Amino acid sequence: MRVRATINGEPSEADVWPGASLLTALRDDFGLPGSKNACEQGECGSCSVLLDGVLVCSCLVLVAQADGHEVTTVEGLARGGELHPVQEAFVQAGAVQCGFCTPGLVLAAADLLSRSPSPTEDEIREGLSGNLCRCTGYAKIFEAVKAAASP
Ligand code: FES
Ligand code: FES
Repeated sequence: MRVRATINGEPSEADVWPGASLLTALRDDFGLPGSKNACEQGECGSCSVLLDGVLVCSCLVLVAQADGHEVTTVEGLARGGELHPVQEAFVQAGAVQCGFCTPGLVLAAADLLSRSPSPTEDEIREGLSGNLCRCTGYAKIFEAVKAAASP
């Protein structure tokens, strides 16, 4: 089937297998490999994207459900060659090791800060609770989110 969607602000279309997940289609058909496939079961959050502004696990969404909708992936966060403040904070804090979890965490953190610009520690933990990281122990990730938050 032909799927048409606004992806990272750009009208986009591709021929896809109707049973494909949004994650697979983004990576294989739309040329956007930033979203990662670590579990394909909705457990890890590494595939997180925004669908009409709502954070979802793209491995649990059929690409057909994105037809006619807006999708934001990690590739869409930077603007005009400038990293998103959350991306910059992750770099500065050293919150990236293998990087497999990073796209999903960055999107989840950006989503949290768009709704709650000055989150408490508990709100940060809650906001990122759907995203697993096997490397960092989370301390530097929380540090990065605090640094990107409004004072
Ligand atoms: S790959 Fe989607 S939640 Fe893990
Ligand atoms: S940096 Fe490796 S899983 Fe998070």
